[in-house]
Amino acid sequence: GRRVTVRDIAAAKQRNEKWPMLTAYDALTARVFDEVGIPVLLVGDSAAMVVYGHDSTIPVTVDDLIPLTAAVVRGTERAMVVADLPFGSYQTDVPEALRTATRFLKETGAHAVKLEGGRRIIPQVEAMVAAGIPVMGHLGLTPQSVNVFGGYRVQGRGQDGDELMADAKALEAAGAFSVVLECVPGDLAARVTSSLAIPTIGIGAGDRTDAQVLVWQDMAGLTPRTAKFVKKFADMDGLLREAARSYAEEVVNGAFPGPEHSYK
Ligand code: KIV
Ligand code: NA
Repeated sequence: GRRVTVRDIAAAKQRNEKWPMLTAYDALTARVFDEVGIPVLLVGDSAAMVVYGHDSTIPVTVDDLIPLTAAVVRGTERAMVVADLPFGSYQTDVPEALRTATRFLKETGAHAVKLEGGRRIIPQVEAMVAAGIPVMGHLGLTPQSVNVFGGYRVQGRGQDGDELMADAKALEAAGAFSVVLECVPGDLAARVTSSLAIPTIGIGAGDRTDAQVLVWQDMAGLTPRTAKFVKKFADMDGLLREAARSYAEEVVNGAFPGPEHSYK
């Protein structure tokens, strides 16, 4: 099987087919998502929280994310792998943005990059697309701007919706192949989705986007506290606790290891 490409993503919108995206940060979970047919995997800067234990995405660096992204590429055969560009690695100027994006593609094998922002980062998006790097946009609640927003809150209400629409159109015109809409009213996400030829990927953006994305630990019920927009499709927290407790108990009471786990 060949890899999913930007052409497949574009064709899905033509056919009105919805598709799922998940985050991934290591080879084994990426392999699971790849084998069940998740077409696009994002190595999110949410790794700052779910991998590195920070309380926002601000502290994570390119050097933190490159090994995780490379692992996800190595763990997959079919999924398109998107590398999230961390805070401070692309905002400064176009040359720095291009250096960052090219590093991700060269050093990890990722197939595309994602960056946050609209009209203010259009020169960066145009330069990347001109250099042959597919770009996924990200609008609405862009967590790298949490200090400007004053917390994680719904974006794009009222007049701000027109600004978001203008940002989405600017990203499309600059050559972005898709755009994430995070934590915005469903009606706004629906309007953006029908106004763009490129697919929209929603997270907390209602049911009328072309695709959906969740952080996998949120989706699987491993994250302790999650936003209203998260549905837990499993109880990974409960499963892991149960497994760890049983293991500990069997080590203490001598039930593990048994003869079948031991070498003669
Ligand atoms: O970093 C991340 O996980 C993301 C997705 C939630 C869109 O940016
Ligand atoms: Na992100």
